[in-house]
Amino acid sequence: MRKQTGLSLLLVLVLSAMGIVFSLTSSDGATSSGFFTPPEKGRYPEGPLGILVKKGEEIFTHTGQFVPGYAGNALSCASCHLDQGRKPYAAPMWGAYPMYPMVDPKTRRTVWLEDRIRMCFRNALNAAPPDSETVRALDVYIFWLSKGAPIGHELKGRGLIRISSPDRTSGFFRGPGHPRSPDTLKGLELYSKSCASCHGGSGQGKEGLHRSPPLWGPFSYTMKSGFTSVSLLAEFLRKNMPPEKGKHLTDQESLDIAAYVDSQPRPAGRVSSRK
Ligand code: HEC
Ligand code: HEC
Repeated sequence: MRKQTGLSLLLVLVLSAMGIVFSLTSSDGATSSGFFTPPEKGRYPEGPLGILVKKGEEIFTHTGQFVPGYAGNALSCASCHLDQGRKPYAAPMWGAYPMYPMVDPKTRRTVWLEDRIRMCFRNALNAAPPDSETVRALDVYIFWLSKGAPIGHELKGRGLIRISSPDRTSGFFRGPGHPRSPDTLKGLELYSKSCASCHGGSGQGKEGLHRSPPLWGPFSYTMKSGFTSVSLLAEFLRKNMPPEKGKHLTDQESLDIAAYVDSQPRPAGRVSSRK
């Protein structure tokens, strides 16, 4: 009798341990953090597909080096889509792939993943329209990163983190959860403290050990990029800059710094070929 109780207790323990293991990796590739896990770095598929994936990854991470004709500035795709397009809340590619084609709520036009890729070439990289071979290589890379992601399902960590919008009508504090309107001067102060070490006091980025891309000026993203919206740039900064662990900005700091960065000059950008 006692032996039986002991056995069933053991069984319960083993089963619950298995349950924990199962809940760590659910069927859609999500882990205990709740974020989708893309395939391991460097484990490309066999054969011709693997060659194309690798080519796409090279273009994504070193755009100016691998497709010099389509690099209008100092940025690569991975300058903003961090960790090779893998990082949650840095507009990861595995978050994007399952959501296209989609209908743009404003224009009612169908947007394909390839359109989105071309848009970032034009507005973020200030580049000429890329040829179809380049776009296809990126498409295959993004497809590979999204292996196992449920199609049509918005995954946690897609896009950027949402922060509550500031009160634009007054500088008054409206209570917790409501940042005041962005303050460019505070932004400059915070920029010197938290950003200038890598991006430089004049925002032009740095070469060498602490290599980092420019944030404004002729080699930065254009006036047509999403980052010229203070709230969108703040949403990027909130989770991603400065990149060191444990150094996250608050909502308010992100908004102030974004206002400062967006008050600086940058290229006007190219006109879209689509009407
Ligand atoms: C200057 C920063 C920047 C660079 C460089 C950049 N992007 Fe983007 N990209 C963005 C922003 C901002 C968004 C919109 C994110 C949002 O609104 O959630 C975006 C969105 C996207 C999306 C759609 C994401 C989604 O979830 O719907 C894709 C795909 C994409 N970019 C691909 C690329 C590719 C490929 C390149 C390189 C050719 C590139 N981007 C370069 C900033 C950038
Ligand atoms: C430790 C160095 C470091 C610090 C500090 C840092 N960054 Fe960055 N930042 C980078 C690097 C490196 C990248 C490019 C991403 C990559 O290569 O992984 C980047 C990318 C960016 C980008 C997107 C690409 C571009 O050039 O537009 C923005 C915007 C940005 N940083 C803003 C900031 C702001 C604002 C701060 C201060 C709050 C900051 N960063 C602090 C290193 C840094």
